[in-house]
Amino acid sequence: MAGRRAGNIVILTGAGISKESGLDTFRDADGLWSKVNLEDVATPEGFIRNPQMVHDFYNHRRRELQKDDIRANAAHHALGRLEAEWPDDVLVVTQNIDALHEEGGSENLIHMHGEMLKARCDRCGNVRCWVDDIDIETACPECAVAGGMRPHVVWFGEMPFEMERISQALSQCSLFISIGTSGNVYPAAGFVREAIFSAKAHTVELNMEPSEGATLFAETVYGPATAVVPAYVDRLLAEGY
Ligand code: APR
Repeated sequence: MAGRRAGNIVILTGAGISKESGLDTFRDADGLWSKVNLEDVATPEGFIRNPQMVHDFYNHRRRELQKDDIRANAAHHALGRLEAEWPDDVLVVTQNIDALHEEGGSENLIHMHGEMLKARCDRCGNVRCWVDDIDIETACPECAVAGGMRPHVVWFGEMPFEMERISQALSQCSLFISIGTSGNVYPAAGFVREAIFSAKAHTVELNMEPSEGATLFAETVYGPATAVVPAYVDRLLAEGY
């Protein structure tokens, strides 16, 4: 019999949940920020300085994402299963710009740092699905102006998306789970405090190793997401919270 539950669950995910699908994290030893300078490719200033370098960086990652062997893993599917069992009670807020949560079955999902498979025109604001390369000559399909297209992702110094909706969910949740994130980047790294102080939520960290905010969590389980997340979801569904 499914366990009792006492209200909403907010689940924050980071790059660690997609690592076992074959996508790099950012701050692990072999992470993206050990290979490129984030100031050059993930800031508005870097884009102004050298837009083609930024396009090349995202074009490479966009092509990677679409390779057949980059698939949702057992952790993504476990979160999809949790939402299917407890519809309306589960919100996934991901920092990831891949589309693996969608493939794993999550529908109540916020991409707070945007989506790699979408592009935005800085001239007219149009946002649309985008699977091809972008370069400095690419014209906007909506306004036809060339040179203003960019990945629909949030760079350092820019405001993440849907912060109102996220704060609202955190203020009403009874369970906050953080998965695969190092807790280095705000505002996401502050969500655990919001869940504690505005909702007195139970807080859980599921990660490969203790994050920057590890001591704030009431419960921690460390190990690879594809092992730890399905096991935690099974326990939630069996015992409730
Ligand atoms: N299973 C679970 N956790 C893992 C795994 C795994 N297989 N592999 C790595 N991790 C953990 C690491 O221990 C680390 O704590 O995932 C975390 C990844 O941390 P980061 O690389 O900092 O990624 P993230 O927290 O998502 O970064 C947040 O920073 O650069 C920006 O916009 C970027 O969204 C990103 C944000």
